[in-house]
Amino acid sequence: MRVLMVCLGNICRSPLAQGALEAAASAAGLELTVDSAGTSNWHVGSPPDARAVAAAKARGIEIAGQRARQIEPADFTRFDLVCAMDSDNLSALRALPPPGAPARFALLLDFAPQAVLRGIPDPYDDGPEAFEAVLDLIEQGVAGLVAALLAER
Ligand code: 4NP
Repeated sequence: MRVLMVCLGNICRSPLAQGALEAAASAAGLELTVDSAGTSNWHVGSPPDARAVAAAKARGIEIAGQRARQIEPADFTRFDLVCAMDSDNLSALRALPPPGAPARFALLLDFAPQAVLRGIPDPYDDGPEAFEAVLDLIEQGVAGLVAALLAER
């Protein structure tokens, strides 16, 4: 199973989602290939935002080694599941794939029906507390996703 996490810049939300899923899958003994990408090319080659790195580190998740990249059509055949962080990201994804591409699209929070939001808000212009709230939501989505993958196995 291969999962791609997608947001706008690939420096805040999707690197956190990648790191959280890698950690949760490993803890659950689930073998997964996980990556992340942005719908924009704005930050290609950059490491995750320092606020995201710090929020992850505080929860024992290391994301500093990641580098931003833009989503590309080949991702829709390389990955089985593409998880968008918000509905804007999902619309951008739906505009991209060639017909017949196998990847399944979802919002990460589709896997957390109990969460108070459906989309994970863009924290870029906000303070560290926004990154905490984002990581809270991501961890709920990731927990639901891991449970769904374990049930499918
Ligand atoms: P992300 O956050 O999509 O979660 O990586 C953003 C990062 C950068 C920008 C917007 C959102 N930006 O406008 O540069």
